[in-house]
Amino acid sequence: MSTAPSFPWHPYPEMSDGDRAARAEGFRDEMATRRSCRAFSSRRVPRRVIEAAIAAAGSAPSGANRQPWHFCAIASTGAKVAIRVAIEEEERRLYGDSRSAEWLGTVRAYSDGAEKPYLETAPWLIVVFGQSRANGDELLPNVHVAESVGIACGLLIAALHRAGLATLIHTPDPAGFLTRICRRPAWEKPLMLIVVGHAASEATVPAAALDKKPLEQIASWL
Ligand SMILES: Cc1cc2nc3c(=O)[nH]c(=O)nc-3n(C[C@H](O)[C@H](O)[C@H](O)COP(=O)(O)O)c2cc1C
Repeated sequence: MSTAPSFPWHPYPEMSDGDRAARAEGFRDEMATRRSCRAFSSRRVPRRVIEAAIAAAGSAPSGANRQPWHFCAIASTGAKVAIRVAIEEEERRLYGDSRSAEWLGTVRAYSDGAEKPYLETAPWLIVVFGQSRANGDELLPNVHVAESVGIACGLLIAALHRAGLATLIHTPDPAGFLTRICRRPAWEKPLMLIVVGHAASEATVPAAALDKKPLEQIASWL
């Protein structure tokens, strides 16, 4: 038994197995309505909503509770334009490069081309950074950074979806420009960019995105 200070377990709400299943199924159904959005309106989203969603992400479990993440929430037009310019430049290079043919084949059903006007029109961009060490201290390396940040981002996206907001994930590569624009230290790695807002009236969903593997394919039971 650990001798570290501890508190008694804070009990979760008691409920019947039927209620438990209904709540899990309700959450499943709610999450099943989430779709990546590639056309955003400029409709405002209050900062308070983004704050609560990021706080939910910050409650995620993490290796040794190091919480190796930083979320840079961007509403500034200048920063959004700078991000759009950098991403479109990289995407144009990718689309124009014959070596990208295989990659383009994989993403074609979901891709919207190199132009990304929504990076400017969406009210919020959230850039997620992973921290390889605590406070940048080389003697304090963080553990399981990618896993921990991935879980936090899952909570973030679920919270935003619950708040009735549309999202889109981007993983620019190279992504160093995000460090500069977000004014983050070099030892933090930009892992993903999440576009947040309301879907534009002309938004569509690629049919292929609805094709989710059934439970039998993604789970096994022993
Ligand atoms: C790590 C990651 C990177 C992604 N990058 C892009 C991207 O660059 N452009 C894009 O349009 N969608 C991107 N997506 C969204 C996926 O295409 C989308 O999640 C997938 O097609 C399933 O559709 P759904 O999110 O509507 O369920 C990304 C998703 C993930 C998880």
